[in-house]
Amino acid sequence: MNDPAQPRPPWLRLPLRQSITARLVLMSAASALFIFALAGIVLYTVLKGELMRHERDGLFTTLNDISYQISRAGNTERWGRVQLKLATLTQADQHVSFWIDGKDPRFTFGDLTHLHASHITEDDGKSVGRLHLPGRQYPVHIMTRTLPAFEERPEVQVTVGVDGAPYFEMRRTFLLATTVFSLLGIVLAVISSYWIARAGLAPLRRMSARAQNFTPRKLSARMPVESLPEELSVLADAFNGALGRIQEAYTQLEAFNADVAHELRTPLANLIGETQVALARERSAGEFKGVLQSNLEELDRIRSIINDMLFLARSDQGEAATARVPARLADEVQKTVDFFEFLLDDASMIITVAGDTDATAMMETALFKRALSNLIQNAIQHSPVGALIRIDIASQEETVRVAVTNPGAAIDEQHLPRLFDRFYRVDSARQDINGSHGHGLGLAIVKAVARMHGGRAFAYSTGGHNSIGFTIARD
Ligand SMILES: Nc1ncnc2c1ncn2[C@@H]1O[C@H](COP(=O)(O)OP(=O)(O)OP(=O)(O)O)[C@@H](O)[C@H]1O
Ligand SMILES: [Mg+2]
Repeated sequence: MNDPAQPRPPWLRLPLRQSITARLVLMSAASALFIFALAGIVLYTVLKGELMRHERDGLFTTLNDISYQISRAGNTERWGRVQLKLATLTQADQHVSFWIDGKDPRFTFGDLTHLHASHITEDDGKSVGRLHLPGRQYPVHIMTRTLPAFEERPEVQVTVGVDGAPYFEMRRTFLLATTVFSLLGIVLAVISSYWIARAGLAPLRRMSARAQNFTPRKLSARMPVESLPEELSVLADAFNGALGRIQEAYTQLEAFNADVAHELRTPLANLIGETQVALARERSAGEFKGVLQSNLEELDRIRSIINDMLFLARSDQGEAATARVPARLADEVQKTVDFFEFLLDDASMIITVAGDTDATAMMETALFKRALSNLIQNAIQHSPVGALIRIDIASQEETVRVAVTNPGAAIDEQHLPRLFDRFYRVDSARQDINGSHGHGLGLAIVKAVARMHGGRAFAYSTGGHNSIGFTIARD
């Protein structure tokens, strides 16, 4: 298997990475080359064998024919007839030659000097040999047989030869034709695979062209999956899924930006308004002090929004609570509750801490207290005067759970899952005890703190009591 982590060798990397078309063309050229080369080699070997067999059969038949007559020629008179017959045969077919060699020069035939001087090689070790005659481009195929002495004639060696030129010419022509045909075939394979690749990749090109039209303004546009081939529809589906998620994130970001602008606009408008009124006429030092005091409150508000936003942004980027220490939850809860002593007194409210007061967990205590403060603040803000607020601590399998419960108007089902969204307020027009309304970031921070501790936030509203809390991982 190809290991994707293994880099390809450079000679393979360039053309293959550049384009799928180039890749397909290269592959089909390589396979065409292989197929044509293989077919050429097989055909050439078969043809060569068949031609040789044909030559051998011809030589064998001719050798048989004349051997019969030579074996019976035992005197010069009969030999004369043999010579005449051989001369006639040679004249009739220019490609055939005969040589008869023996001790007695009367019973010989043909130009034996060439036969003796020439270089004879056995073809494949079989009975057909090759005779290289001077001045001839191709060797002559020969077959030799020894005939025993008869009457006056001594033992002779009969050799039949056939000119190898047609045989070699045919082999050469075939080789040339096969090579030309193969090259043509490869060129055709390259051209056709180029067109096939282009036609096959047309849907991909259409898809890219469509994808180029997607802009932040047209985020609702989707790739049409039905008109695409099966293989690409999987890709288009994945692409559409990614687009959907981007659209969601983008919409959220836009809403978030609008919220930030909106939240900052009010305190800024207050600041500007107050400053303008203050500057409109002469004021005493005391009056200016009052204005600056009020401005400072607005500036504080802006700073707290910005701080909360920065904290949420860091948590969004995956920042976890790193400075975690083991702590007893009941202790941290009590410290936080103590902080609200005066506020509780003012509203004649009481907070009780109940549940598993021995529970411990690894936590960044400052973050834990910040989240719990937000919950207590909300509980105080949304409870009637003299209410009893309960904080429950519970140990679960891998987490510990803190819930702040206060009596109050039920929170509608539809709001519950959205309470933890940034800037989300059930009734944004409603003002709290201080006459100002919150930013809607308190519960978003609770959710972020829970996530940074490997837990989650939750909210219930039953029987006139609202329970909002969070879990954190034990370790
Ligand atoms: N204990 C509760 N009882 C009833 N409603 C609640 C309670 N806690 C939160 N809510 C609702 O959830 C909304 C979001 O709360 P969150 O703490 O995020 O924002 P906030 O209190 O309005 O502003 P901030 O906490 O940033 O000053 C609140 O506006 C309120 O409508
Ligand atoms: Mg709040």
